[in-house]
Amino acid sequence: MTSALLPTYVRAPLAFERGEGAWLVTEGGERYLDFGAGIAVNALGHAHPHLVGALTEQANRIWHTSNLFQIPGGERLGQRLVEATFADVVFFCNSGAEANEAAIKIARKYHAAGGHPERYRIVTFAGAFHGRTLATLAAGGQQKYIEGFGPKVEGFDQVAAGDFAALEAVIGPETAALMIEPIQGEGGVRVIPHGELRRLREICDAHGLLLIMDEVQTGVGRTGRLFAHEWSGVTPDIMSAAKGIGGGFPLGACLATREAARGMTAGTHGTTFGGNPLAMAVGNAVLDVVLADGFLDRVAHSGLLLKQKLAALRDRHPHVFEEIRGEGLMLGLKLAVPNTDFAAAARDAHLLVIPAGDNIVRLLPPLTIGEAEIDAAVQRLDAAAFGFEGVRGAAE
Ligand SMILES: Cc1ncc(COP(=O)(O)O)c(C=O)c1O
Repeated sequence: MTSALLPTYVRAPLAFERGEGAWLVTEGGERYLDFGAGIAVNALGHAHPHLVGALTEQANRIWHTSNLFQIPGGERLGQRLVEATFADVVFFCNSGAEANEAAIKIARKYHAAGGHPERYRIVTFAGAFHGRTLATLAAGGQQKYIEGFGPKVEGFDQVAAGDFAALEAVIGPETAALMIEPIQGEGGVRVIPHGELRRLREICDAHGLLLIMDEVQTGVGRTGRLFAHEWSGVTPDIMSAAKGIGGGFPLGACLATREAARGMTAGTHGTTFGGNPLAMAVGNAVLDVVLADGFLDRVAHSGLLLKQKLAALRDRHPHVFEEIRGEGLMLGLKLAVPNTDFAAAARDAHLLVIPAGDNIVRLLPPLTIGEAEIDAAVQRLDAAAFGFEGVRGAAE
């Protein structure tokens, strides 16, 4: 039977009936180790009791009131995020793309409020991914996603990360901001060196630009810090977050300094569902766990352990694995074999990994992953890699 769903995804022939921590279980009872976590979404794994408790408790009280009324859970989550970051104010929405739309609007309005509405252009970096709305597609700059959808949204310029001459050349009197992922996720787990992030901050300060960090994939503990930019010592003016912040419940956030958000007065932005009581309850519950003493250190430790074991695996299969990239539990394996074939082989070994650009597979396990699960994942990667060694042997 043909599916009634718009065929915009190539879906694996697999459906899951339930999840438990790092495991997904099919209706037939087959267990898969989930090292994708819904593309870095299920930060605390599946069916985490604290999140289930918070959501069901809230579901029994109130789901939705609109943003025309106070939402105490949102006030609390906003305050906690402000206290834990560079930011002074938070806007809640429902997805990463929406968080980036808010970031773009805040940056443009900042200049308009300062008497410079002509400063609206945003510089982004090759390999970026910022979402699938028309503006965030233009920001990401990937032709294959933009084509066929009419004129590209105006106001985005792109340069290669690390090409500071090109960056200085593209910055002009209309430039409002730079926008960057501290580690490019979809682009292939490409870590932007801390020195480069510091230089971007200096360039922003020198030209009166705002620095926007897209931490939709890197944020909320993924790299072993609450937000990945913290490793570099650089603070943005505006930051988007989503994915892990809701632990699997749709939630996005745009954080900013009060100064950067100076133009955002009543009526300048909005969303029907953003910041609804259900999302706020889950967001607070995620923070309860992620901000608990020692949690982020354990993430960093698990990341190091996984990276070490992957290094040994690369030595065992140099014809399959070329390089290991990433920070914390956002790791990428650069492959010498096609990444989609490898992801399918890993799936056959009951391990879920996520392909990305630059022939990478991403390992994005729940942040709660334990050593036994790390070992099980590495064994399954080993089994998947052996399949390719066989193919290579036969071909030679
Ligand atoms: C860095 C980054 N920004 C933005 C997005 C878009 O998020 P969403 O799919 O929730 O709109 C993604 C999604 O993969 C992402 O990785």
